[in-house]
Amino acid sequence: MGQSQYNQGFMPAELVCFEPKCRARFAITEVIYNCPRCGGLLEADYPGWKCDPAALKRLWRQRRLTNAPLEESGVWRYREAIPFLDSYDHIVTLKEGNTPLLEAPGAAAYAGLDRLTFKHQGFNPTGSFKDNGMTCGVAQALRLGMRRVACVSTGNTSASMAAYASAAGLVPVVFIPHGNISFGKLAQALEYGARTLQVEANFDQILALVRALAARLGIYLLNSINPFRIEGQKTIIVEMMDQRDWNPPDWIVLPGGNLGNTSAFGKALRELRQLGLIERVPRLAVIQAEGAAPFCELWRSADRAALHAVAHPETLATAIKIGDPVSWPKALYEVLSSRGVVEKVSEQEIADAKAQIGRCGIGCEPASAATLAGIRKLRAAGVIAADADIVAVLTGNLLKDPDYIYGYHTGGLTAPSGEKLRSTYGNQPVVVPNEAERIAALLEE
Ligand code: F0G
Repeated sequence: MGQSQYNQGFMPAELVCFEPKCRARFAITEVIYNCPRCGGLLEADYPGWKCDPAALKRLWRQRRLTNAPLEESGVWRYREAIPFLDSYDHIVTLKEGNTPLLEAPGAAAYAGLDRLTFKHQGFNPTGSFKDNGMTCGVAQALRLGMRRVACVSTGNTSASMAAYASAAGLVPVVFIPHGNISFGKLAQALEYGARTLQVEANFDQILALVRALAARLGIYLLNSINPFRIEGQKTIIVEMMDQRDWNPPDWIVLPGGNLGNTSAFGKALRELRQLGLIERVPRLAVIQAEGAAPFCELWRSADRAALHAVAHPETLATAIKIGDPVSWPKALYEVLSSRGVVEKVSEQEIADAKAQIGRCGIGCEPASAATLAGIRKLRAAGVIAADADIVAVLTGNLLKDPDYIYGYHTGGLTAPSGEKLRSTYGNQPVVVPNEAERIAALLEE
């Protein structure tokens, strides 16, 4: 492939403050995570951004036919949608993205729908949607000449950052809440070579700590407040639309934790609409776990002026065990812009929905199953119609949290409240003697 193919997609890019009253602008190469003027969140912005929608759709489709490394990435294939770099020299790809749309008739029936499609981000190289953003965050770290990168994580971000940083020759430093992430995720961080600190505090407390330490220790932060991670996660939506031949669904449903993904999906939808790549914006439905649902409470509050953090968030879906989501102002804007909704679901609802997704032969980690539980609740309330066209995003792989699964199927899952969860769709393994007759009798029952 000629070099010229790689030169497409550069744009003037800036960081802009997300606060409507501020909108201060900064160079794309400044190492900042919040607006230095007002403290607001930052996002990448491309002044004068235009495209030829038909030509771009054709180009993106053609790229699927080549074996060039950037084109094999489900993120960088869509680089014109995330044009923050001025050179592609810094890209390290593990061929992230490329995640399937899966029809799930069983899950649709469970929710009371005619049909339901999952976009399964668990098919990513480290098993979660974080890889879409991390390849971009690490590219920016390399561009800035950073040597060390860090994140606070409920597990998936640390697994992803560890992999991409090590692949790029950077030093990954991971901060995780001690005893509160699944073993599969911790194992990944160790195996990918991250310096791993298990801090005796919860996610929100550690994030505040690390934000204060980042400048002092000269480390580049790769949490979802990093605007370049958000750019990468936008491609989940771009790829979804490409796979659907640019026909937007009625709803896109996703779990909400720190709300980076909600911010990314909303930004992607707005931009695709502005660029003329889609004609209407689907509604976003964000689902939280009941014990960690500050965004849902904000949504239900009269004025929606300020988020009240949950001091001690609790859920077995540890990925979304977050009480003080930093990206809430962006997420609120995006849910409102898409005429979306926010809902919360119980531990039992998540566990049962997860087993139903498993029975479709698909499977996911607990946080991801909040989507199906939320859809079922929104369907029952009449918010979602039975014939709606819905894509639910499964954010993480089934194997991330095998302890939870074994607990559910063998009746040993206890919610943080102390409530014992029912194994509604439990599937107990059976211990049998090494005797053909007994085994045959068992299976002939
Ligand atoms: N689903 C999974 C599997 C996650 O790992 C996360 C977040 C979410 C959903 C929520 O996404 O934060 O963008 O609203 N995990 C982060 C982590 C916080 O550290 O891995 P969000």
